[in-house]
Amino acid sequence: MSLASATPDQKLRERAQRVIPGGMYGHLHAARLPAGYPQFFERAEGCHLWDVNGRRYVDFMCSWGPIVVGHKNPVVTEAVERQMAAGDCLNGPSERLVELAERLVGLIPHADWALFGKNGTDATTTCLTLARAASGKRKILVAEGAYHGAIPWCAPGTMGVTSEDRAHLLTFKYNDVASLETAVQRAGDDLAGIVVSAFRHDYGKDQELPDVAFARRARELCDANDAALIVDDVRAGFRLTLRGSWDLVGVQPDLSAWSKAIANGYALAAVTGNERYRDAASKLFVTGSFWCSAVSMAAALATLDVLESTDGPRRMRDMGQRLRDGIAAQAASFGIGVRQSGPPQMPALLFDDDPTYKKGERFTLEALKHGVYLHPRHNMFLSTAHTEADIDFALEATKAGFAVLASR
Ligand SMILES: Cc1ncc(COP(=O)(O)O)c(C=O)c1O
Repeated sequence: MSLASATPDQKLRERAQRVIPGGMYGHLHAARLPAGYPQFFERAEGCHLWDVNGRRYVDFMCSWGPIVVGHKNPVVTEAVERQMAAGDCLNGPSERLVELAERLVGLIPHADWALFGKNGTDATTTCLTLARAASGKRKILVAEGAYHGAIPWCAPGTMGVTSEDRAHLLTFKYNDVASLETAVQRAGDDLAGIVVSAFRHDYGKDQELPDVAFARRARELCDANDAALIVDDVRAGFRLTLRGSWDLVGVQPDLSAWSKAIANGYALAAVTGNERYRDAASKLFVTGSFWCSAVSMAAALATLDVLESTDGPRRMRDMGQRLRDGIAAQAASFGIGVRQSGPPQMPALLFDDDPTYKKGERFTLEALKHGVYLHPRHNMFLSTAHTEADIDFALEATKAGFAVLASR
């Protein structure tokens, strides 16, 4: 390709190749998507996003979760600008810290206190440390294939990870009571905690909501063993309900990890906990240079205002269901087998007989050409900015995707 004919995205990729390892890193690397997806973006508004080539998409990834009330939501932007004018990174926290903790304690049934970090991994890791600190025990149970962050104890790969980093982790199968009980037995009298995702949302797999019997058994096992039940609500938190995702199955955790949607794209994470863990949480040295920054807390307060006043989780569910119903009808009319799983607010779409995801990739690439940004393997995300018209526009694109699959 001659540089003169290269698109802005291609030019940026070339420049990045020289100064960014591998040209990009992590889950946002466009190499993880079919060729044709953009790497670089220019701007976003509501549920729309523009790449650097000037193409507009209806966005069903929402920045992989953080955008929950729409890009550049005016209520959030106003709160951010007001706080920015007053100050962000100060010698100590602002009043927003207390306001936000009060708000979470008021909203989330299990929460008696809250503390804050920046990324989901800060929150999940702090939960583990608290479970160990409070109990003096070491073993933590995690579900096979679950994602809790990208540092040595939990990264999906093992590159640069020592066996010692994971020495006290034991695994079980999500929603499988027998395997959970076996893992608890293996931990013996050293069980500090059990970590569960809000629901099973492993990469490239059909999603599974938590079984009530599994959730209740996890609670009982923690109670019987003086261990912490930890819900990792980083991905699902504030999309399904504002009360914590396991509230939907009637089980309250001891500790929850939050991030992503909490501040509509501003960097913030939270840990909430009950009285049992307050003492450990008050003694543990948890901190980071930016963990008390006021702007993202102001953004979180405004985000929660919008979610509450618009009944955000229900609106996202309704729009997600409209998308799901439309796709199901199209799949049936084309005679193509699809599997749609997970809550409608966080839909996953996989194709039958598609072990290498090639069908899914052809489908989403066609949708992309029609101005709709879907993901061929990962769960997607709705926001409160998606309207009926946006969903109907998306369904035109998915129809084109099915037509391409049917033509081969
Ligand atoms: C369930 C879950 N836990 C933890 C994390 C880690 O969050 P972060 O990438 O903000 O550190 C993620 C990120 O995708 C996640 O989905």
